[in-house]
Amino acid sequence: DLLQQIHGFETIFTVNGDKLKTIVNHFITELDKGLSKKGGNIPMIPAWVMDKSTGKEVGKYYACDLGGSNLRTVLITLNGDKTFDTTQSKYKIPDGLRTTQNRDELFGFIADSLTSFFHEQFPDGVAEGVTIPLGFTFSYPASQDRITQGVLQRWTKGFDVPNVEGHDVVPLLQEQLKKRGTPIETTALINDTVGTLMASLYTDPETVMGCIFGTGVNGAFFDVVKDIEKLDGRLASDIPQDSLMAINCEYGSFDNEHLVLPRTKYDVIIDEESPRPGQQAFEKMTSGYYLGELLRLALVDLYEQGFVFKDQDVSKLKTPYIMDTSYPSRIEEDPFENLEDTDDLFTNDLKIKTTVPERKLIRRLSELIGTRAARLSVCGIAAVCKKRGYKTGHVAADGSVFNLYPDFKPRAHQGLRDIYDWTEKDDSKLPIIIVPAEDGSGAGAAIIAAVTEKRLAKGL
Ligand code: BG6
Ligand code: GLC
Repeated sequence: DLLQQIHGFETIFTVNGDKLKTIVNHFITELDKGLSKKGGNIPMIPAWVMDKSTGKEVGKYYACDLGGSNLRTVLITLNGDKTFDTTQSKYKIPDGLRTTQNRDELFGFIADSLTSFFHEQFPDGVAEGVTIPLGFTFSYPASQDRITQGVLQRWTKGFDVPNVEGHDVVPLLQEQLKKRGTPIETTALINDTVGTLMASLYTDPETVMGCIFGTGVNGAFFDVVKDIEKLDGRLASDIPQDSLMAINCEYGSFDNEHLVLPRTKYDVIIDEESPRPGQQAFEKMTSGYYLGELLRLALVDLYEQGFVFKDQDVSKLKTPYIMDTSYPSRIEEDPFENLEDTDDLFTNDLKIKTTVPERKLIRRLSELIGTRAARLSVCGIAAVCKKRGYKTGHVAADGSVFNLYPDFKPRAHQGLRDIYDWTEKDDSKLPIIIVPAEDGSGAGAAIIAAVTEKRLAKGL
């Protein structure tokens, strides 16, 4: 019985090479549509970063990075020799803050963290009238007309705070800083993918993309201004048409029309029960916010059909989002033949006793969900690289799934191999490889502040 269930899951969760290729082809069309005047599903947001970092920028900068799971405050020293140093404090985003009904609570939390960081760094304060410039990494889709602002289009990754969508988030933060008398001024607002791209370019000129595989999924790259139709008149006329501009793709929203992604009934439930049904279709199948939930939904389904956990109290398991991505991740990592760690996890956290065959099924299911996520995720990479004609290059990656989910990287590389029909066995020798850029996006914010200063100084 259970074996049959496993086969069923293998069928619905496996994405073969041909399907990946179909997805990539559609993805390329959608990226182009997003850049057009009319726009498309994928926002393709011009990020107003117009210079690649060279590794030569110098200076000390402050950054604050609101990621999916943490808030970081960072002091970055750019050394000018392709290296940088960072000093940072990390704060876990408190439970409930993602969905607080009061936006001041969210921006107040950021301002509080920045204020304590400021006091640590400047115990004697700063002279009257002096302000500390800040790069703010805000990892949600924000439309920008310049680097110093960003209007939130819509929340993603389970955030749902009223009165922020449609607003420029910079004044919302500034207001809270002012209330606290903290002399910090946001001089650049950036997306985490753009930050990762720039931080990585600082140390590695082969970088072609910045990608996040974390609570959300997204990528950024440099496009040529003349191909970004939607810039339409927003760019100063003296900027040459062959200049570059970073694009924050926001490709978590790829295929919101559900044309090519191989959705299962669990993907459909996740979407329907999310605060934003119909949005972030690609992200909902691939990112850390949803992987544990996919596993939970499949297990509840098996229970309801009478295949597992017979006669047990599954009330905990029935709580939406009770299993975060650390569940499939720990289950996949369980080193024991009979999966004793998984046994503990279910006994202690969910109050469910599992049999060995049940645990083997849970493990296989986790593998299938994790593998599908990794393989689908790289469709975004292949689409951008094909669109830009990049045959080789380094894709700088960050995020909890990339850094912590077992085997994410080899599975992602296998996905690329299947898309490109590469026969090379050694991951490190593939023409396009994914390289770690851990915690780079704060540094990216600093680098962007530095290159922007340079451009302003040149009068551009
Ligand atoms: C961090 C980056 O390491 O990863 C953040 O510094 C980014 O900018 C984050 O948002 C993404 O990962 P997660 O798992 O927190 O969403
Ligand atoms: C979500 C956000 C996007 C971010 C990504 C990774 O997709 O909308 O801005 O880059 O998560 O954190």
